[in-house]
Amino acid sequence: MLVVRNLNAYYGEVHVIKNLSLHVGKGEIVAILGANGAGKSTLMNTIAGYIIPRSGEILVDGANIAGLSPGEIISMGISLVPEGKALFYGLTVRENLALGLAHMGLRLTARVRSMIDEAIDVFPSLGSKRDIIAGNLSGGEQQMLSIARALVSRPRILLLDELSMGLAPNTTALIFSRIQEVNKSFDTSILVVEQNARLALDISSRGYIMETGKVIFKGKSTDLRNNPEVLRSYLGGAGGRDDLR
Ligand SMILES: Nc1ncnc2c1ncn2[C@@H]1O[C@H](COP(=O)(O)OP(=O)(O)OP(=O)(O)O)[C@@H](O)[C@H]1O
Ligand SMILES: [Mg+2]
Repeated sequence: MLVVRNLNAYYGEVHVIKNLSLHVGKGEIVAILGANGAGKSTLMNTIAGYIIPRSGEILVDGANIAGLSPGEIISMGISLVPEGKALFYGLTVRENLALGLAHMGLRLTARVRSMIDEAIDVFPSLGSKRDIIAGNLSGGEQQMLSIARALVSRPRILLLDELSMGLAPNTTALIFSRIQEVNKSFDTSILVVEQNARLALDISSRGYIMETGKVIFKGKSTDLRNNPEVLRSYLGGAGGRDDLR
């Protein structure tokens, strides 16, 4: 479904994604773990078309999308929930959701309305808040809105960058249970970057560990959970980084 092959991305002359390869199968949930600055967001933003890779391929069902615009990539069925939500805080919930369909034009046609309603159904607590300004929502509701905006275009592949950041544990649990329901109901493939390694490995079938722009470990999530190096670095084992749990 999604295949990234020998990808290289730069900021100016700074080489951030280094010959990186990964794949996500249809209906699969795949996790990416890695320390701050490893290049996880750069990878997600490159797949979503916000950064043009210098070389390598990003294949969706065999078609290379590297170099396409973000709108074209949404049309191909790939949506990103960016790190830090990136909402339009002065616009309403409905207006933010309509922007998830900006690649189809900005008219609120019946089809656009029904796509918006379907995305809101994933998070019913947003239902009564359609006309509220996004800046007035709680942090958890803002994260739900950011996810709903990505879902509005009915993606086949969902890219999630640090959903749990700044959220209370029960809000994080609720959001991830909805994500798992979306994955099951619509067979949506999901690539998830998550600082909460335990959570990420619990919901995924496979995972990749990134360090300085490269994949240093990959495997089944159950195996990664028991890998001593992974335990030490990401899961708060002896000498581990408890702050990353
Ligand atoms: N716009 C930018 N211009 C230049 N360098 C950047 C830019 N954005 C990120 N970087 C650098 O690229 C590297 C990778 O950053 P990136 O944000 O992809 O890491 P990350 O793994 O997502 O980290 P975090 O866990 O903190 O979100 C870092 O060294 C960062 O300083
Ligand atoms: Mg990041």
